Amino acid sequence: MRIKDQIIEFLKETDHYYSGEKISRHLNLSRTSIWKNIQELRKEGYDIAAATHLGYRLVSVPDKLSIREIKSGLDTKFIGQNIHYFETIPSTMEEACKLGLEGASEGTVVIAEEQTKGKGRLGREWNSPRSKGIYFTLIIRPNLFPTELPKLTLLTSVAVCEAIRMLTGANAKIKWPNDILINQKKCAGILTELNAEIDCVRFVTIGIGINVNEDISLPETAVSLAKASSASISRVRLTQEVLRRFETLYVYSLNNGFGQMIESWKSLSSTIGSNICINDQYGSITGRAVDLDEFGGLMIENEKGQIIKRMSGDVVEVSR
Ligand code: BTN
Repeated sequence: MRIKDQIIEFLKETDHYYSGEKISRHLNLSRTSIWKNIQELRKEGYDIAAATHLGYRLVSVPDKLSIREIKSGLDTKFIGQNIHYFETIPSTMEEACKLGLEGASEGTVVIAEEQTKGKGRLGREWNSPRSKGIYFTLIIRPNLFPTELPKLTLLTSVAVCEAIRMLTGANAKIKWPNDILINQKKCAGILTELNAEIDCVRFVTIGIGINVNEDISLPETAVSLAKASSASISRVRLTQEVLRRFETLYVYSLNNGFGQMIESWKSLSSTIGSNICINDQYGSITGRAVDLDEFGGLMIENEKGQIIKRMSGDVVEVSR
């Protein structure tokens, strides 16, 4: 761990003052060197109070998705243990793809405070204003066939939905395949891209976008967590929770199959049991969403009682 990271870890141990002498003894550094590092931390946005004879006290941390803050207290084994942070970037998807091709390890995260060309599903844009939301891409290298990948998107939506529920208390739901909604308005989305050969996955990039503190910049169909739950949400804490839940579900599903995850997905779904209209490249189907198939495809019963399957598309939930 770097010196500044260690100083912050010490200061986070207590709400009171931490003696400068103690820090310098632990780190085997002079008091002057500790002072210089504290000055640098202040420039990075940490509010650190200093008092003669008492030492230093951490008053507040900057509202940034910095590597230091995300890794502090993140108890995952590999998801999020290697993080690439950007103040601004066109899209974390492209950077993650580049890193994936260069051999980045499984669990690597590319995260940004702002995206200038954020990508959504079906060629749409993802609105990514600075420091308002969470925008990151996860690189994973699963030993799966390309046909099994939709299940990873479902798994990610379970991780994101559960993390949002836990931190906001809101009744977040998943709209097939992977939109997270609160009161029918979208608060998070997931974009999965694949780098593969015909029968083998090289790596997968999973992009997660969560509207956290946006106010006026969102379209009518979207909502931020702050607005939906009237709670103040720590972006760092939510990012950590998503990473932690993703790792648990991912490791469990690779070892034991995706059955349990699919059940969790169904219990969080607003789509199954709803009358829907789905649009994709084959046209439009209206019917009742009755189930998911083993690959994560949506099974729709039309008015003739026929079951039609779809692997992708845009769902409009008409009624329940
Ligand atoms: C959707 O359309 O619902 C998917 C949205 C995915 C947005 C995230 S934000 C982080 C990552 N980088 C991107 O450019 N897109 C994804």
